[in-house]
Amino acid sequence: MYICRLKNICTMDTVVSGIRPTGLLHLGNYFGALRNFIKMQDENDCYFFIADYHSLTTHPTPTDLQTNVRNVLIDYIAAGLNPEKATIYVQSDVPEVCELSLLLSMNVYVGELQRVASFKEKVRRQPQNVNAGLLNYPVLMAADILLHRADKVPVGKDQEQHLEMTRDFAQRFNHIYKHEYFKLPVAYNFGNELVKIPGLDGSTKMSKSDNENSCIYLADTPEVVRKKVMKAVSDSGPTEPGQPKSQAVENLFQLMKAVSAPDALQFFEDQYQNCSIRYGDMKKQLASDMIAFIQPIHERIMELRSQNDYISKVAKIGAEKARASADKTIREVREIIGFKTL
Ligand code: TRP
Repeated sequence: MYICRLKNICTMDTVVSGIRPTGLLHLGNYFGALRNFIKMQDENDCYFFIADYHSLTTHPTPTDLQTNVRNVLIDYIAAGLNPEKATIYVQSDVPEVCELSLLLSMNVYVGELQRVASFKEKVRRQPQNVNAGLLNYPVLMAADILLHRADKVPVGKDQEQHLEMTRDFAQRFNHIYKHEYFKLPVAYNFGNELVKIPGLDGSTKMSKSDNENSCIYLADTPEVVRKKVMKAVSDSGPTEPGQPKSQAVENLFQLMKAVSAPDALQFFEDQYQNCSIRYGDMKKQLASDMIAFIQPIHERIMELRSQNDYISKVAKIGAEKARASADKTIREVREIIGFKTL
């Protein structure tokens, strides 16, 4: 970090990533994103933000927007993101990103945006709200990343197409202006280390948009965690040795793999294989391991929620650092494009 202040001898890679503030962060966010952010913050120049502009595609009320942004910032810090190591900021505190998005959009074609998988899925799922923000989503995301000229972007598989587009847009800009300005950032996932977190309701992905009880939030109290886990969907149990697991039961094993010791996992695996498993016992174990994992984070969340001044300070310092980096990019991009003060 100290070396990095002297930008010309900085050899650290720049890392950028963000999460949309659509609610409290859950275990899926933790294992899919946050845990990797935390690992990266020591050896990279990191920018982690809260993608509140992106969240407007779903039209939150002003109160919900404000609450969610604050909660995600608190969850970030409680989970271990360190504002002294990484630049942690709120996207809308750095409006330079809008200008870069606009500038990039001039060389992005409507047809290519309409072919994006995430856009097509939105069109299918919410035909009554196909707003231009959704279409433009990958351009704004490219602007987030290129604004700090990132090398690496830690994201899950579902974001890889967006990353490819970011590289396309960057390359296009470089080509049009005959200038090797933008680096071509790569999606950075931790390969096999990326643990998939399923829901407690038998769904393959923990997601806040499904039912509340399928999701374990980092802010959940031990009692709530226990209740949710004990209510998790299972099945009527294996009837013959070696029987394949139903999705719901596979999910319990996946969750156990994330938070429990390997021997606990093996114990229940053996029991499953010889048909002696009692899901109630397995859930009790899972609940207590999950509580042990979440409790320290939960406690920090509760402390931070009353520390308004500290939270504001973190956001302010993050915004300042992010704006310094953004301002440099915007000035250079404007010059390359040909804007001149007359
Ligand atoms: N699209 C990302 C998601 O839904 C969030 C995001 C917005 C993002 N801008 C980004 C992620 C830039 C990485 C880099 O998860």
